[in-house]
Amino acid sequence: MWKLTKVAAVAAVLAASASAGAGEVEVLHYWTSGGEAKSVAELKKIMQGKGHTWRDFAVAGGGGDSAMTVLKSRVISGNPPSAAQTKGPAIQEWASEGVLANMDALAKAEKWDDLLPKVVADIMKYKGAYVAAPVNVHRVNWMWGSSEALKKAGVAAMPKTWDEFFAAADKLKAAGLVPVAHGGQNWQDFTTFESVVLGVGGPKFYQDALVKLDDKALNSDTMKKSLETFRRIKSYTDPGAPGRDWNLATAMLIQGKAGFQLMGDWAKGEFLAANKVPGKDFMCAAAPGTTTSYTFNVDSFILFKLKDASAQKAQSDLASSIMSPEFQEVFNLNKGSIPVRAGQKMDKFDDCAKASAKDFADTAKSGSLLPSVAHGMAIAPATEGAIKDAVSQFWNDDKVSVADAMKKIATAAKTK
Ligand code: GAL
Repeated sequence: MWKLTKVAAVAAVLAASASAGAGEVEVLHYWTSGGEAKSVAELKKIMQGKGHTWRDFAVAGGGGDSAMTVLKSRVISGNPPSAAQTKGPAIQEWASEGVLANMDALAKAEKWDDLLPKVVADIMKYKGAYVAAPVNVHRVNWMWGSSEALKKAGVAAMPKTWDEFFAAADKLKAAGLVPVAHGGQNWQDFTTFESVVLGVGGPKFYQDALVKLDDKALNSDTMKKSLETFRRIKSYTDPGAPGRDWNLATAMLIQGKAGFQLMGDWAKGEFLAANKVPGKDFMCAAAPGTTTSYTFNVDSFILFKLKDASAQKAQSDLASSIMSPEFQEVFNLNKGSIPVRAGQKMDKFDDCAKASAKDFADTAKSGSLLPSVAHGMAIAPATEGAIKDAVSQFWNDDKVSVADAMKKIATAAKTK
């Protein structure tokens, strides 16, 4: 009898202590595709393991435009979630509204400054204090290849230049396959466009034109050539592209129906979720002409000021979990990205991820590590949105000339 009572007493104390610090986190994100959902489920698992309640505030829509619209309405109504998937300059805009929590106590206790590349740590801070926790490093300037489709078309290797790309695309077309799998949201057009600008013009031109928004660069012959190359890619997509979600474009490669997809490495998460093997079922390669450059896209969660103490504790545990070695490994293995935390072992990661980690380090040294404009890392959201619309209009409307598009993009670049 004594033994049973004692065990019961210990169990009651444990349960009580677990629930004492237990709180609720509501997390806004837009990770709703197969690979994305599997990844974010790992964070939910970790938080539930700490006794917290996870309220999943998922807003579908790759690229996140819809999620940001919903977030604005929640914050304006004075009822922000604990955390929201937000990145780049948008973090500064939210922080300037005075609605984000200061996470410095945790960041200092866990030495985040020693664990993050300075380029990333600076993005996570507002006026020197951490207001966001970074999740990963996605590389955007990737091109994916379906091994089955490329074999069928007699394409022996992933193209390294745009001339090689178009030659391969012609072979895929001749084999009755879709050369380029593409979807119908403007952020997908912009993702392709930024890789073309990088591949045609090189890292300095990319920086001048799309990051510094230099008028001379935006009106240069190199921009003209970039737009001509961009339009030529359009002719290798299929009539079903408009409206297609990015992950359904990836599915066309998984099914061997299409040859290439120009997309960030969240696409790898879809291949992995379908149990496809890199180097065997699919190929990863830098987008043509961009082998020695890296356009980075760091997903992060901004953390809102909360009133309730248990909610604040749960929020702090969320930020700590995001930066933990365990989460950094299991999340990024599923997501297709690489850990953002320094010193992570890469032995469980595939060759695409290992190449990404090496290139991230090499390009940081060489000066060709660049913020992805299409994924909110480089310029103010309003400016990014205006340029994205001008680029997407050019992609969708063959009546828009290259000269018109250059004018519209240069004008959009002045949007504040
Ligand atoms: C990006 C985001 C990635 C991925 C992609 C597709 O902006 O950073 O994590 O989700 O959109 O939705």
